[in-house]
Amino acid sequence: MAESSLYSIYTSVITGFEWLASEEIKSKLSVKSQRSRGRVQFRLEPKRIPEVLKLRSIDNAYVIVLEKTLLNLGKLPEEEALREIQNLIKSVDWETAVDAWQLAHGRKIAHFVGLPEDRENLPKFRVTCFRAGEKSCHSFSSMDAAKSLGAEINNTFGWRPDMKNYDIELVLRINGDTLSLMVALNNESLFKRNVCAYGPTTMRSTICYCMVALAKTKPDDIVLDPLCGGGSIPLEGSLAFPDRVFFGGDNHPLALERCRENHDYNKKKLANTSSTVNFFQWDAAALPLKDDSVDAIVTDLPFGKKIGSKKNNQGLYTLLFEEWARVVRPGGSVVALTSDKRSIETAMRNSQVWKNHGDSLGKHWRSNYSMLSH
Ligand SMILES: C[S@@+](CC[C@H](N)C(=O)[O-])C[C@H]1O[C@@H](n2cnc3c(N)ncnc32)[C@H](O)[C@@H]1O
Repeated sequence: MAESSLYSIYTSVITGFEWLASEEIKSKLSVKSQRSRGRVQFRLEPKRIPEVLKLRSIDNAYVIVLEKTLLNLGKLPEEEALREIQNLIKSVDWETAVDAWQLAHGRKIAHFVGLPEDRENLPKFRVTCFRAGEKSCHSFSSMDAAKSLGAEINNTFGWRPDMKNYDIELVLRINGDTLSLMVALNNESLFKRNVCAYGPTTMRSTICYCMVALAKTKPDDIVLDPLCGGGSIPLEGSLAFPDRVFFGGDNHPLALERCRENHDYNKKKLANTSSTVNFFQWDAAALPLKDDSVDAIVTDLPFGKKIGSKKNNQGLYTLLFEEWARVVRPGGSVVALTSDKRSIETAMRNSQVWKNHGDSLGKHWRSNYSMLSH
């Protein structure tokens, strides 16, 4: 297919896991991607848009329908700058915007040629604006930029603005003098896919996917989340990785209730997977499991805010690391997320068993993942 007829796809991903999203895109879509902080971009045939929405490491996906530099945008007074932003409407590839949206949503929307008579069936839309870098370099606010462009779209095409119940979301990104307009392919963020019962620290399904991927499990492996909260990691694991056995457990009865609700919520999807998932109430520091019986542990540790305290963590992490050294088979792995780096270091020193190959997920999450092996 000619390069010019490919769509430019922009995906927002978890900061620190851009490389993993790139790997998933390469292995599932067979395309190369470019990555920068919090995003991965690639080009793809239009008919393959539905495949993008099946990727498990991306939070949101868009098709870029305009990229433009407005020289000296930062120097223009507010009124002039906003007029320039309204004028962008003439340069947007609207055909691609509508086609991409239709491909992603699997339904048609009323098209537009000028202002049609029948306004009832026209799509509802909203424009969101994000500005990167130094915001004070512009004379206008992000809200004003979004409003101006939105008003122009409404005047020109008759699309109805609706901030909540919109069909089409357009995202205007401004970085200095560079602007891009993108049409969102998903209305609800993809990381909300598995959870209906939220707890105080429910994790995004996309982070869960990345963490299970890091553990490099194989078919027939037994994978454990000993501190599973509402079960987000075992659920995502069993939906994304076939032929494994996932166990989740927590010592809090309310967490187990959420596990059950979230499990029921995914019943249909789980019926189509070859992995299994089961939940138990237990103490993660005294697991009812035999020595060397687990291939991998993937977990989100209490990090001292909302759940647990940093004071307790030092002792708790040490107990957990000892217990995990007992149940994880030699050569198995542990992937653990926490922002409490000091407690991890203390537990590592105390246990003397684990080697850490982890990394920081950056300021955004203020978290590190620890990739342990023994
Ligand atoms: C950070 S939360 C996990 C959140 C989970 N990833 C989710 O998405 O819902 C940590 C969990 O560890 C549990 N926990 C703390 N100490 C525990 C222990 N000794 N045994 C089992 N669970 C424990 C807490 O009840 C809490 O649900």
